[in-house]
Amino acid sequence: MTTTSQATTTKRLSLPEELILMLLNEETGYFHQVPGWDLNCAFVGAALAELSLISRIDTDEESLFLVDRMPTGNPALDPVLKEIEAEPVKRNTQYWIERLAAQAESIIDSTLDHLVALNVLQYHDGDFWTLARGTTQAGTLNGSSEGSGVEFVKTRISKAIFDNEIPAPRDVIIICLINTCDVFRFMFQLDDETEERIEFICKMDLIGRSMAAAVSHNLAGPLLQRSALTKGIPTVSLSKMAFNRHIRSGNLPALFAELAQQYGPVFQIKPPFGKPMVFLAGSNTNRWVHRRGRMYLRARDYFADFEKVYGAAGVLPALDGADHFRLRKSLSPAYSRKRLADQMDDLYDRARRHMAEWKVGESYPATGMSRRMINSQISPFMVGVDTQDIIDDLLKFKERALSVHVMKLMPKFMLKTPGMKSKAKIIETLLERVQSVHTPAQRAGRHRNLVDDYLSLHASDPQFVPESNLRFAFTAALVASAYLGDAFSFALYAMASQPELYARIQKEADALFDNGDPSSDAFTPEAIDVTHRFLMECLRMYPIVPMSMRHVMNSCVVEDYELPVGSKVVIAQTATHYMEDIFPDPFKFDIDRYLPSRNEHLSPGYAPYGLGTHTCLGSQWMNLQLATNVLMVAHHFTIKVDPENFKLRFNPIPSMKPSKKLKFRIAERRRELKV
Ligand code: HEM
Repeated sequence: MTTTSQATTTKRLSLPEELILMLLNEETGYFHQVPGWDLNCAFVGAALAELSLISRIDTDEESLFLVDRMPTGNPALDPVLKEIEAEPVKRNTQYWIERLAAQAESIIDSTLDHLVALNVLQYHDGDFWTLARGTTQAGTLNGSSEGSGVEFVKTRISKAIFDNEIPAPRDVIIICLINTCDVFRFMFQLDDETEERIEFICKMDLIGRSMAAAVSHNLAGPLLQRSALTKGIPTVSLSKMAFNRHIRSGNLPALFAELAQQYGPVFQIKPPFGKPMVFLAGSNTNRWVHRRGRMYLRARDYFADFEKVYGAAGVLPALDGADHFRLRKSLSPAYSRKRLADQMDDLYDRARRHMAEWKVGESYPATGMSRRMINSQISPFMVGVDTQDIIDDLLKFKERALSVHVMKLMPKFMLKTPGMKSKAKIIETLLERVQSVHTPAQRAGRHRNLVDDYLSLHASDPQFVPESNLRFAFTAALVASAYLGDAFSFALYAMASQPELYARIQKEADALFDNGDPSSDAFTPEAIDVTHRFLMECLRMYPIVPMSMRHVMNSCVVEDYELPVGSKVVIAQTATHYMEDIFPDPFKFDIDRYLPSRNEHLSPGYAPYGLGTHTCLGSQWMNLQLATNVLMVAHHFTIKVDPENFKLRFNPIPSMKPSKKLKFRIAERRRELKV
């Protein structure tokens, strides 16, 4: 029953929307695992059934035909309606399911977007969705004031299958589709009687029956599920690669882009000692990793030996599936933009105190100067202590551990040298230092930090976040600060080497800071338009993390190449940053790429923060911190590249940074630093 006030706003969810809500698994932030083709068929079935229920199409035994061409206003349904209208020959339902299944992803995407717009679902970075716990939920939308969208649909369905209530025609269709996807058993505990009832319901409605028959018939068509004609993965010639100009300059993304141009989007490199590595490089492979990767690739294997060095097992970057989603969700406030935005005064203060040490006329090594400035902020914000005295050792140890256990470039004993053993002890120093200031009395009244969040998680579920994982968790934040430090050094280089852009950034900085320190709200897209586009271009040309490693856990076909179970995969997600068809003239630093008229970054080809479920959790925090630091340097100083004719080269292992030879000279202090 709808009340009068509801009646004006009540809008029924479409069948594809209800199907998504039924398939959503809140524990993983994604759908119950349904093989891709089956899921596609089910969604097309839902779209066709909805069009039929709202009398736009009709079906009989032989054909599916248009009844009314008037658009529905639903972005998931109208393209389907148009396609049916444009077809000159009458076709049957099964034909349409087969034909449209290839485009089902766009139906799924529009459906998800629509549910987010309706505030039924909430979107999370990394392509996760959960139910929005807001007020406008599907229950209300469908005329009930109780429960969330999922609960509402689930209640209706469970009444039909358990309580023998006669289901409405649309519920019959939903039941058929879910049954065809074979996911009822993940949602409810089924006994023989219920299964019989489900089968019975599936036969009750003609539309539902024909959709389900067409879907299940397609499920049986193995040729459609996977291309039988997979190609052999080409192997890169090591001798030719050795002479590649990008190997010499250390520009890995440009190297991968060139290899993809020569060998195609999937190629392998066979190192003389060690397992072959399959590389994915291109816009389509990026899209595949982002949307589908979670079902076939996992992070656990490549990370296992590395985390063990810290005594840990199952830390965030090493987790997959439901555990990963749960931990990521619990930690996202700790890495959010808001956490930093609430502490802007402290951020300005720390930045000024650090810059006050710079002397006009002096030159400083780019990497050290930038990393130290960023760490002087990240360390107290994330772990509550200063670590300037130990950060270099922590980083050296981590880089060695990565080279030994992830890149496999060095033998294991290289991590046990006397120098490394003493650096390993610094991890204990950090742990003790952090623990000593995280007593309840000392933390009272302070902004929460990452350590507070980890300690609460550990206290509430010590099996999920054991004490043995904390060493890694605390060090990782500081180690990641080196990534931001390196991004900062590239930004300073790009600014110092392009005076015209430097002047435009200075103008924005002066407008923001001339009348006192701005609040984070002042960093609007208009106020920092140039700085924002400048930083986006820095992350395109100089991506700090150019690739990610994974292992294949389920065999799969990508761009017609089969990846067998157990293969080692390198996702070269930033190869696209140097591909001409995505970023024309890719070696040109051009901040106008991001103007609305060009929007070159709006594709999976722009991926400085990674792809899919492990996308950088700190990216929003990073963007604010990076912009603040760049603007503050621009406001207070003119810096120059030293030597002036320096030609940028990269030091790319284990992550991208400028070569050691780059320095910055403090040419001018533009105004006093009030500390
Ligand atoms: C500009 C600097 C940074 C860049 C370019 C960057 C990039 C990335 C990338 C590409 C990944 C995905 C790795 C993978 O797929 O295996 C990642 C993951 C992650 N990053 Fe960042 N990162 C940056 C700075 C930071 C900082 C400073 C922090 C926190 C202090 C941070 C927190 C994280 C976390 C927690 C993850 C793991 C997310 C997960 O596994 O679910 N990042 N980052």
